[in-house]
Amino acid sequence: MTQAEEKLKVGLAAAELAEAGMTLGLGTGSTAGAFIEAVAKRKLDVRCVATSEATAAMAKRLGLNVVGLDAVAEIDLTVDGVDEVDKGLQAVKGGGGALMREKIVASLSKQVVYIGDSSKLVDVLGKFPLPVEVSAFAMPAIKRDLEAFGAKTTLRMANGKPFVSDEGHWILDAGFGEIPDPDEMDIFLNMTPGVVCHGLFIEMIDRMLIARGGRIEELTPPNR
Ligand code: 5RP
Repeated sequence: MTQAEEKLKVGLAAAELAEAGMTLGLGTGSTAGAFIEAVAKRKLDVRCVATSEATAAMAKRLGLNVVGLDAVAEIDLTVDGVDEVDKGLQAVKGGGGALMREKIVASLSKQVVYIGDSSKLVDVLGKFPLPVEVSAFAMPAIKRDLEAFGAKTTLRMANGKPFVSDEGHWILDAGFGEIPDPDEMDIFLNMTPGVVCHGLFIEMIDRMLIARGGRIEELTPPNR
């Protein structure tokens, strides 16, 4: 089975978790897109909060009812993709640049189910460059801090200009090779002025569905 087929399969499996009456959090990216298409096909009466402008546009085009956080205090179920996840269910997200809204939506959700093809499960996080969303003003200082911490950094670009997130910030992609202690990195980044969000999702996932060939593997956090 190809990676694209695994994405479709896991998107379809996650769509079965949606129920009429639910408020759903819709992730961003190709795997989340497979979920959104499958859930739209089920024609359930659901409300949806989108984690990006791109996802909101897609969901509306498919006929889903997209609402803002003014209409919603709590989200029943959020389904989103990952760039990397380890067996402890710590993840790296933000390859699509939607990390900030993705983290906000996950934090408001009763159940967070992340989905991925088999390439996303890793032993140690860090091969995928960690997206760090920053204030443009602070970018040079944060770049120096990240490099002092051992990262090779790249300012994310789009059409020859810095990529601007839906929240209006720039993204530094920080390649560490390995992040042996994600908790320490989380604390370091949270304490760095000008970092508005980062792509480490620590203790946020309730269930992880991984498509491997024709099967769906389910992982749950070790200490819950
Ligand atoms: C977007 C994300 C995506 O979930 C992540 O990049 C995975 O994307 P894909 O499903 O296309 O592989 O975090 O910000």
